[in-house]
Amino acid sequence: MTPRHFLRDDSVTAAEQAEILDLAATLKADRYGHKPLAGPRSVAVIFDKTSTRTRFSFDAGIAELGGNPIVVDSQSSQLGKGETFADTARVLNRYVSAIVWRTYAQSGLEEMAAHASVPVVNALSDDFHPCQILADLLTVRENFGGKTADLKAVYVGDGANNMANSYLIGFALAGMHITIAAPDGYKPEAEIVERAKEVAAETGGSATVTTDPLAAAEGADVLITDTWISMGQEESGKQRLADLRDYQLDQRVVDAASEGAIVLHCLPAYRGNEITDDVIEGAASRVFDEAENRLHAQKALLAWLVERS
Ligand code: CP
Ligand code: NVA
Repeated sequence: MTPRHFLRDDSVTAAEQAEILDLAATLKADRYGHKPLAGPRSVAVIFDKTSTRTRFSFDAGIAELGGNPIVVDSQSSQLGKGETFADTARVLNRYVSAIVWRTYAQSGLEEMAAHASVPVVNALSDDFHPCQILADLLTVRENFGGKTADLKAVYVGDGANNMANSYLIGFALAGMHITIAAPDGYKPEAEIVERAKEVAAETGGSATVTTDPLAAAEGADVLITDTWISMGQEESGKQRLADLRDYQLDQRVVDAASEGAIVLHCLPAYRGNEITDDVIEGAASRVFDEAENRLHAQKALLAWLVERS
């Protein structure tokens, strides 16, 4: 049987995304009561980049599902010495029930998936962070009576990174209206925006890009930002801080949004850069619920994928 992979937000349909989120809520309500990976079945969790949330939530989540997490840094494996992704997949197929991988190029994930007989999960690449979006959607559901459709989300900051891409496609898939507010030079690629619009046309959502964060925030239900310097962009960090300084998620943006709007940030946060201390600590902030929901959403995702493979 060909396995299902989760390499980008639209690796699942809108109905499947909703099914995974329903399962996440079920698993959250009975955290230790579901053991679909009992045996235990093992899951490889591989990191080419650093991580706190992704590493701990997958490790804990796989154990809670009755499985055996095998968490490695690629630098301590032969991957770090240049063994091909294809050969790695063909070996891991014989040991584990799923491969979770945080890496740089999306093409690496595609190559791994092409040779994997078990599901491959993108735990963040340069282009997408789809596991984070599932957690964010679960958090949105929890704050808006179980629904996501028709809600308005605004992402302020670096519109050309993995999070912005995933919000565009993943939130559009959930029927939301997603706007990216970013300066020229930091806008999402046309191909991503087109794909998000195509998805939105089917779900009743929308996807737009603007340069004006305050106008965009008007009527928003969900406000989001992310670091201005993603992993791998450290060299141009100084320039990026200067270019993005007018795109901070601050109290002015919160004041422009709807009453009852919530604030999300995938973390780690760099307070004083992309978000102010008062906003991340303020009444609208849901960032730690969001971080917790990584665990529940990823447990649901793994259970869902393994059941179908
Ligand atoms: N949000 C997120 O993926 O955090 P980590 O980089 O700590 O895993
Ligand atoms: N855009 C950030 C997300 C971190 C979870 C990065 O890639 O570093």
